[in-house]
Amino acid sequence: MEVTINNKSHEVDADPAMPILYVLRDLLGLTGTKFGCGVGQCGACTIHLDGVPIRSCLTPISVADGKKLTTVEGLAAERLHPVQQAWVDNKVPQCGYCQSGQMMSAVALLNRNNNPTDEDIVRSMQGNICRCGTYPRIKAAIKQAASVMREEAKS
Ligand code: FES
Ligand code: FES
Repeated sequence: MEVTINNKSHEVDADPAMPILYVLRDLLGLTGTKFGCGVGQCGACTIHLDGVPIRSCLTPISVADGKKLTTVEGLAAERLHPVQQAWVDNKVPQCGYCQSGQMMSAVALLNRNNNPTDEDIVRSMQGNICRCGTYPRIKAAIKQAASVMREEAKS
């Protein structure tokens, strides 16, 4: 299978049924995406498939053949993505385990709506569980990133 991951093309030799999460972590060494529950319940494994957030623990690699995946490793270009910068500025992580999935869901939200209400944030982020309870900081960071992204959209 031919899969573009973070703008780089990869020839993936794997069982087509293998979850994308295992391909990323075990075959390609991209360990930023985390295994939380493995059954689609926690959001720790969230990545983007052609820009849409998916649960990589449940999605077979065959679905990504010929498509584009983005993982947390692919968010930063010359500088941190505004979401990553906001996570740093707001000191969001506690243990950190859930946070790459949180950021991938936040980026997906802000790509479709860079001025989300509290309700939009809660609705979009509700599939991402944080056992450390960092939700208030996540919300503050999303608002900061939204404001930066709105400014960037003007220039
Ligand atoms: Fe995929 Fe929990 S590890 S949703
Ligand atoms: Fe620990 Fe979210 S920071 S699970």
